Amino acid sequence: MDGVPIPKDFLLPLPASAGDLELALVLLFLAHILFVNLMVGGVLLSLAFEIRGLRRPSYDALAKKIAATVTVNKSLAVVLGVGPLLVINALYGLYFYTANSLTGGAWILIVPVVISAFLLLYLHKYSWAALADRKGLHLAIGGAGATLLLFVPLIFLANINLMLFPGRWLEVEGFLSTLALPNVLPRFVHFVLASVAVAALFLAGWLCRRGFDFETALPGLDRSVIKRELLTVVLAATALQLLAGPLVLATLPPHGLSWLLLGNLAVAVSLGIAALVLLWRESSAAGPLSARYWTVVVLLGCTVGLMGLTRHLYREKAITPHRELVAAHTADFRAAALGAEMRLAAGTPRIGAGEVVASPGERVFRATCMACHDLDTRRVGPPLREIVDIYADNPDGLIAWVKAPGKKREGYQQMPPITMQDAQYRAVATYILNEVFSLPEATAETG
Ligand code: HEC
Repeated sequence: MDGVPIPKDFLLPLPASAGDLELALVLLFLAHILFVNLMVGGVLLSLAFEIRGLRRPSYDALAKKIAATVTVNKSLAVVLGVGPLLVINALYGLYFYTANSLTGGAWILIVPVVISAFLLLYLHKYSWAALADRKGLHLAIGGAGATLLLFVPLIFLANINLMLFPGRWLEVEGFLSTLALPNVLPRFVHFVLASVAVAALFLAGWLCRRGFDFETALPGLDRSVIKRELLTVVLAATALQLLAGPLVLATLPPHGLSWLLLGNLAVAVSLGIAALVLLWRESSAAGPLSARYWTVVVLLGCTVGLMGLTRHLYREKAITPHRELVAAHTADFRAAALGAEMRLAAGTPRIGAGEVVASPGERVFRATCMACHDLDTRRVGPPLREIVDIYADNPDGLIAWVKAPGKKREGYQQMPPITMQDAQYRAVATYILNEVFSLPEATAETG
């Protein structure tokens, strides 16, 4: 990952175990996206049926009925969006925050765009009767609401995608350039198709359920026909996913793929195909919905659940290498900070202050050990003279101690383990055992 920004993170403890949070994220996100799908798909279907109603007025009432579901689903989508947003901030704060700030303008734009979209959709819903004679205007209001609404998932997708690719962070310049990441637009298409399929499936179940007086509520329409039309929409949108899905997969950078993920995906797709077959049969059968409908719901539900898991598997694998770099960077930073703190705590350095530093080992010693170890005097730790007596022929033993110090002396604190590079351990051991007491100033001090 050359040229990738690798921040130091303090790896603060998570509020719950990572596993629990990941599970919560997958489930909360699925609940959220279900209602987002119902809302977005509902808007599109309501507009489509309203357009159809221009020629066949009985469809206008259907469009209005669908529009009534949209605002309810919208409220649930928004409320259920808070959960995943909070969890993603806890689990992937570094990545999510970075992506959001890189696309800052668009990210903030979500707020006014969402508000405008919702107001337009309410206007669309409540002006149905008032604008009955001005259908063009009424459709334009709904169309504007839908367009704004579709913009929101595009921003989210761009960010969610950008957070997975730290390697692109330095190249990206704002939202528009993020859209050019290869995966964003295929994912958007995948999302819109899913929304249409989910909403049509829900509407088929809701409008064609037993016990609902369809003919009175929607005069002039036939329940079997509407059922067939809605299920055909589900069928078509789901079948198109068989094209969009592979495109999403093919445009994902391969470093996040794994066999587990592909296996998961294969199961999900198989269940989806089984659902397609049943949908085909159900949509061509006359009469109200049969039990087959619920089998389809369960099968597609499992497909979506597995897709949600797949999405998570990809994300985890994609960012692991960068996470490891951050952890290593953080460890280095902490070691340096610890050294600095100890030097401060120990006051003015004693050995060779102000001297020109000669060897690498001496440099390590000054930076990391001198706070606690002096030549002949006990400070926080024992004097070097004592250390040389113990380890004179055993630099490896000294290094082992520094990596994992024991508790040896009465009346001394515990020495903290010190993390450095291998070469630094070796250098400081050489300095302590072979160099320090042969330096002129050391001899002078002791002599
Ligand atoms: C925060 C203070 C502190 C720092 C920094 C520190 N030490 Fe120590 N060191 C101690 C203390 C305290 C002991 C005595 C611990 C004991 O005997 O239980 C000790 C003991 C030792 C010993 C004796 C081990 C033995 O077997 O008796 C060695 C060797 C040693 N330190 C090397 C180092 C080196 C090398 C560094 C720098 C890379 C370093 N120490 C940095 C506090 C420190």
